[in-house]
Amino acid sequence: MSILDNVGNTPLIRLKFLNTQRNVKIYAKAEFMNPSGSVKDRAAKEMLLDGIERGLLTKQKTIIDATSGNTGIAFAMMGAALGYKVKLCIPSNACIERKRLLRVYGARIIETEPLEGIDGAIMTARSIAAAEPDKYFYPDQYSNRANIIAHYKTTAEEIWYQTDERITHFVAGTGTTGTFTGTSKKLKELKPNIETVIVQPDSPFHGIEGFKSLDSTLQPDIFEPQLVDKRIDISTEAAYKMCRRLVREAGLFVGISAGANVEAAKRLAETAPDNSVIVTVLCDSGTRYFSEPLWEDINDSN
Ligand SMILES: Cc1ncc(COP(=O)(O)O)c(C=O)c1O
Repeated sequence: MSILDNVGNTPLIRLKFLNTQRNVKIYAKAEFMNPSGSVKDRAAKEMLLDGIERGLLTKQKTIIDATSGNTGIAFAMMGAALGYKVKLCIPSNACIERKRLLRVYGARIIETEPLEGIDGAIMTARSIAAAEPDKYFYPDQYSNRANIIAHYKTTAEEIWYQTDERITHFVAGTGTTGTFTGTSKKLKELKPNIETVIVQPDSPFHGIEGFKSLDSTLQPDIFEPQLVDKRIDISTEAAYKMCRRLVREAGLFVGISAGANVEAAKRLAETAPDNSVIVTVLCDSGTRYFSEPLWEDINDSN
């Protein structure tokens, strides 16, 4: 069995501490339990296997992509497991834990202009891959349909069975939009009246790592806007606050985007009809953000 065989099939955890006093249940998919620690294992696995199957990723090629962290970590882990070199373009202000982890797995990092954010990293990866197409396999997670298919085939199916087909709302924020688009698409096929809710940072200059504001940055090609039934905007501070609640009230030490997703699910639960079953995503682990302001002033609770 390879490490890739352990991607997905993550637990669905009931968030009882968010008791809404109403008959509405909130669940979260524990994606931090994937082998490289994030939801991005699903997309990375599907994109690499698809590339191999189509003859685009051969043994001589180096995998190159632009990533603010988690996809890169997934590629780095899978590159090591499958025997491929990995090169990643990443804004130089990405946090140290992520950059170090990429290097631990053996990936090469190209640091890009921090002010250009992830869009700058995407341009760099694109131009390197375009200059030497025989040398690189560029999965381009923002345009690669395998990113959506991963969630269509796995995340949505798992949620469907884990809720005994009772899910009524799916809530997820967006980086590439793969999680939101792929999962929503399949869930709506299974049950057309499921409400799909997109989570967005409330400002273009936000600290919700992994999320990309669809208003102020390039809209990924794989995004399907017609799948959005509702949108909830979350501030970085509200996401931080929910991260602290998740670790102290549920023992779930998760990243900032997970905090934003759960905060949005909680707000949705306040007005959702009785018997609603809301599912959201815990994208990655809190260990990836030790150097962020989020944990600086956390105190002993007793
Ligand atoms: C921490 C984190 N949360 C959320 C996301 C968003 O996932 P997706 O790219 O499927 O939209 C990402 C994507 O990189 C991420 O790294």
